[in-house]
Amino acid sequence: MSNESVQLYYPSPEFVKNAAVSGMDAYKALCAEAEKDYEGYWARHARELITWQTPFTKVLDESEAPFYKWFTDGKLNVSYNCLDRNVEAGNGDKTAIIFEADDGQVTKVSYKELLSKVCKMANALKSMGVKKGDRVVIYLPMTVEGIVAMQACARIGATHSVVFGGFSAQSLRDRINDAGAVCLITSDGQFRGGKSIPLKPIADEAFSLGGCESVKNVIVFKRTGGEVSMTAGRDQWLHEVLASQPETCEPEWVEAEHPLFLLYTSGSTGKPKGVQHSTGGYLLQAIMTMKYSFDIKPADVFWCTADIGWVTGHTYITYGPLACGATEVVFEGVPTYPDAGRFWKMIQDHKASIFYTAPTAIRSLIKAADTNEAVHPKKYDLSSLRLLGSVGEPINPAAWEWYHQNVGGGRCPIVDTFWQTETGGHMITPMPGATPLVPGSCTLPFPGIQAAVVDETGSDVPWGQGGILVVKKPWPSMIRTIYGDPERFKKSYYPEDLGGTLYLAGDGAIRDAKTGYFTITGRIDDVLNVSGHRMGTMEIESALVAHEKVAEAAVVGRPDDLTGEAICAFVVLKGARPTGDEAKKVIKELQDWVGKEIGPIAKPKDIRFGENLPKTRSGKIMRRLLRSLAKGEEVTQDTSTLENPAILEQLKG
Ligand code: WTA
Repeated sequence: MSNESVQLYYPSPEFVKNAAVSGMDAYKALCAEAEKDYEGYWARHARELITWQTPFTKVLDESEAPFYKWFTDGKLNVSYNCLDRNVEAGNGDKTAIIFEADDGQVTKVSYKELLSKVCKMANALKSMGVKKGDRVVIYLPMTVEGIVAMQACARIGATHSVVFGGFSAQSLRDRINDAGAVCLITSDGQFRGGKSIPLKPIADEAFSLGGCESVKNVIVFKRTGGEVSMTAGRDQWLHEVLASQPETCEPEWVEAEHPLFLLYTSGSTGKPKGVQHSTGGYLLQAIMTMKYSFDIKPADVFWCTADIGWVTGHTYITYGPLACGATEVVFEGVPTYPDAGRFWKMIQDHKASIFYTAPTAIRSLIKAADTNEAVHPKKYDLSSLRLLGSVGEPINPAAWEWYHQNVGGGRCPIVDTFWQTETGGHMITPMPGATPLVPGSCTLPFPGIQAAVVDETGSDVPWGQGGILVVKKPWPSMIRTIYGDPERFKKSYYPEDLGGTLYLAGDGAIRDAKTGYFTITGRIDDVLNVSGHRMGTMEIESALVAHEKVAEAAVVGRPDDLTGEAICAFVVLKGARPTGDEAKKVIKELQDWVGKEIGPIAKPKDIRFGENLPKTRSGKIMRRLLRSLAKGEEVTQDTSTLENPAILEQLKG
């Protein structure tokens, strides 16, 4: 990037003119405002953008740092802010959601209709005794009902924990158990890519594993008509419980710090952690980023292709767009069904103006378009687009250029938004009407966010030098704790060796020597990013060693053209090391096993067998060496401490 010839992409004068953050001076003015009066900056936005039932007088409370609190004496309701206030403002008939089902059927839901659906659902939950502070696990496909279920929890002050529909019975069980959920909302099944996939049977399996005894009610949404068994006294059909519910429901006004949701995500050790988010601070940044990073306007049709099972679906499907009174597209299916032109056709059909997706999807659609002209974006009318976004993993410059040229017609800025489950909203991102873009760089911090690159001791490193990405000051939408494990929260995010006051993102970064632009260089812990999904290597290792044939396993990532990173597992079996067809058979068996233990996204792409794993004489697995082997590189590391150098040959793959 410090290369003089690097091309900068500027927004058009037209875009700049109408943008919420119009030009670099406007961006700098916001940063300066935050610099001068940090609390005042966030408080001003919180007053302007959120409707409070009880206004706050306190802004940031650092008394129990790093358990920071924001707007503590304020009271609000997120569902009120997303629904009622839009209806009250006269936008009740405006389309909130354009839902496109897997089979292409389109349903539009207005703000008024959405509010009544949410109220009915909220009343149903209340009728079952679900109350403020209770945890509700949501295991649903990408349908309007998923959003309604989340909003309904928010309405009554219940804390939701959405579990991605691709997770296994074991993963679902662990999350229900850790959260101590009182209610599960699921569906008979889900449609994806023309297939009907069961969900309720997986939930039943989760219950049969034991540990879900806290759940008193299971609500089942009928989506596919697939066969399900209902447990009397516990399970009820959604349409039946909704039938008698009133269409209004007074929102429960909660304190700003009240936990809106838990979302489980992978860390470098142990089981997935329940990231706990607040109500007020979280909502503030959901709205602010919609306004500043996405430049959302009343006439926009916003489309985020994420699933509500991930944080992107929380902030940029369920909450952000609705809190801004936007019209959004919600899509049940997959980008490649019925063909790889699906996204482009949907942008055309719904006249989407802002499109937000992941680099993995872009890369796979590039590949598809290269081999089949008919699904190339140029075959579609994408003139409604004015802004593009990318999230979840670094976007390689070639994919960026293609996205810019072929989807954005060379005229749409791309916001490459860096953030995490823990951060709640965008942290480093261009302002589309201000920041000159460099492909592959997420550019500069969101106004107010104090991102920095430091060394292992927590000292700033000069621009141009790689290091550890940290955030120096608490921000409103930050993680509040790890549910049930505050010690782990402190250790994971505010480690002592960095001084205990810096938020550790877990990523490496480098700032351009001249512009100060950030480029994320990837995770620095044992977390992999496969197709934009976070996976802990330890979780996959635990799943592998739980298989009866496996004695030992080590999992590493290796670069993959399509999925960013691919999972590579080195396995020692209890019996003889398999070869040839026998090896193929065991590989398939282990892949399926991991798929069942965690979910299909965790299946190792590559499994190699050794009689042993490379270890130092003190018995530590040499992961760096495994990473080289996984990549197919010549091993250049010093192997003199290796106990058994001969196994390197076996593991070459
Ligand atoms: C990675 C997803 C580069 C990063 C919102 C981070 C990115 C992890 C970007 C969080 C980006 C996310 N450029 N890397 N624009 N966005 N990441 O919690 O490694 O699922 O730590 O949140 O994804 O993943 P998570």
